[in-house]
Amino acid sequence: MASSHRPIPTRRTSTSSASGPTTAAAASGRDLYERFFGTVRAAGRDVVRCVTGPVNEGSIAFHRRLGFEIEAEVADYDGAGEARVLLRKRLS
Ligand SMILES: CC(C)(COP(=O)(O)OP(=O)(O)OC[C@H]1O[C@@H](n2cnc3c(N)ncnc32)[C@H](O)[C@@H]1OP(=O)(O)O)[C@@H](O)C(=O)NCCC(=O)NCCS
Repeated sequence: MASSHRPIPTRRTSTSSASGPTTAAAASGRDLYERFFGTVRAAGRDVVRCVTGPVNEGSIAFHRRLGFEIEAEVADYDGAGEARVLLRKRLS
């Protein structure tokens, strides 16, 4: 007969995973992107692209601050009436 046992998370596990200063929850957007840039550089990539909404001015400003440039704004990119801004950053 097959076992249906599944491990149950303990209080100790969930507390330690959420309390350290280096957890993802504590990292800034820049910190997370810098880690990502390091990972993809190590994989031999030299361009990172992302997509955001034209109404999301905060996201666009954030990405530009991190060195992304706007490649294009594409109407209906994500379906009818759903334009998106395409951004690109060269890693060097
Ligand atoms: C956009 C988002 C990821 C930025 O994360 P964050 O942790 O606040 O960003 P950081 O603190 O690392 O900021 C990095 C730089 O961008 C700038 N920046 C961040 N948000 C900004 C905004 N709304 N307007 C202008 N500049 C902004 C910061 O001032 C900082 O500049 P500095 O390095 O000169 O100090 C975060 O605000 C968020 O999750 N927003 C809601 C969801 C969203 O819009 N996600 C993007 C969808 S594509």
